[in-house]
Amino acid sequence: MNPFTFYNPTELIFGKGQLNKLEEKIDQLGKRILLVYGGGSIKRSGLYDKLQAIFQKKGCNVLELAGVEPNPRLSTVKKGISIIRENELDWILAVGGGSVIDCSKAIAVGALYDGDVWDFYERKAKAEKALPLGTVLTLAATGSEMNRGSVVTNWETKQKHGAGMTFPTFSILDPENTFTVPKNQTVYGISDTLSHVFEQYFSHTKEIPLQTGFAETIMKTVIENARKVLQNLEDYDARANLMLSSTFALNGLLATGVETDWATHSIEHAVSAVYDIPHGGGLAIIFPNWMKYVYKENVPRFKRFAVEVWGVDPEGKTDEEVALAGIDAVRAFFNEIGAPSRLADYNIGDDKLDVMAEKALPFGPIGNFTKLTKEDVYEILKMCL
Ligand code: NZQ
Ligand code: ZN
Repeated sequence: MNPFTFYNPTELIFGKGQLNKLEEKIDQLGKRILLVYGGGSIKRSGLYDKLQAIFQKKGCNVLELAGVEPNPRLSTVKKGISIIRENELDWILAVGGGSVIDCSKAIAVGALYDGDVWDFYERKAKAEKALPLGTVLTLAATGSEMNRGSVVTNWETKQKHGAGMTFPTFSILDPENTFTVPKNQTVYGISDTLSHVFEQYFSHTKEIPLQTGFAETIMKTVIENARKVLQNLEDYDARANLMLSSTFALNGLLATGVETDWATHSIEHAVSAVYDIPHGGGLAIIFPNWMKYVYKENVPRFKRFAVEVWGVDPEGKTDEEVALAGIDAVRAFFNEIGAPSRLADYNIGDDKLDVMAEKALPFGPIGNFTKLTKEDVYEILKMCL
């Protein structure tokens, strides 16, 4: 196991009816709030009205940044920063999925920074201070509700970069707020959560039984509850298990003492920077192909994955056959839940493969399980066509 420091200050408030805890957070953080949300799902679900009732009861002065895009844009972040500066607000409340939360993290840091907030995403500056940020999560996927990552797209330059920005001060996770997530977004969330575990599970670090066990339990929980939730989108227990799994898949726990990979995420970010496709959809296409490209680097790890997570019977098979059967099981599962399998599903052809390969490595070779060059990324993208 490698040396590590684990730090995660986000207060997690989980369960049915927990929105009322917002009242005490308003007492602690102040009444001048920037409310950030997306394209209107919170109005259709009734969550917006519940928030308004709380704001009114507490006598809050709330300004709004609405319309945050899926794959949030730098231009929207800058709008939020201007609102904060012009109105001297106390804190930010993000209500939505990963895009709304990531955009809010950028605003929270950018509002206290004299330079251009894009500096953080270009690794020209390191985030040190931020306004307090609370979240009410409405979509189980990214884990952004309990980590410091933020992914923003600079649409003018077609760059989508992640940066370590700020941890939410608190996050309210009521599984009922995810009941209205439609089937396709639910599937993308499932694929994103599994992908976060894959990025941390495929590692050469030795003697990590606890981390391996945590990862396998999360994957099995997601697979089982994915099948349940797709039968009934309002299955409370299935939504709760998926929500907790996605939060714990990317809150630092699985990375403790482990060398992690993250090449597939860099490749997906390059694809969605150019084509603006859903993150989870892109991952479902790319991950099985990444696995096929790299599995020979550590066949025993892929064999274990096949047997423990996917129930592949190793009897009468070589280790390599077992490993490959595990990768086929990943593809079959993504097909079963209706995730996309080829770039062609998003009408993406081979004309910009080199552009995407270039964008996947803005700071040099990617990944740790195998270091990938631009040529490797190009080959993986070709397998995805
Ligand atoms: O905008 P609204 O109207 O709210 O609709 C959203 C959006 O269209 C909808 N939605 C959310 N909650 C809903 C709902 N619809 C009905 N009922 C609800 N309860 O779902 C759509 C997608 O939302 P979005 O926030 O974009 O999805 P997700 O949570 O998957 O976030 C994706 C973004 O997060 C980044 C991705 O790259 C992408 O930009 N990531 C962030 C990470 C992080 N901060 O740690 C890690 C991830 O790997 C990922 O890269
Ligand atoms: Zn992801």
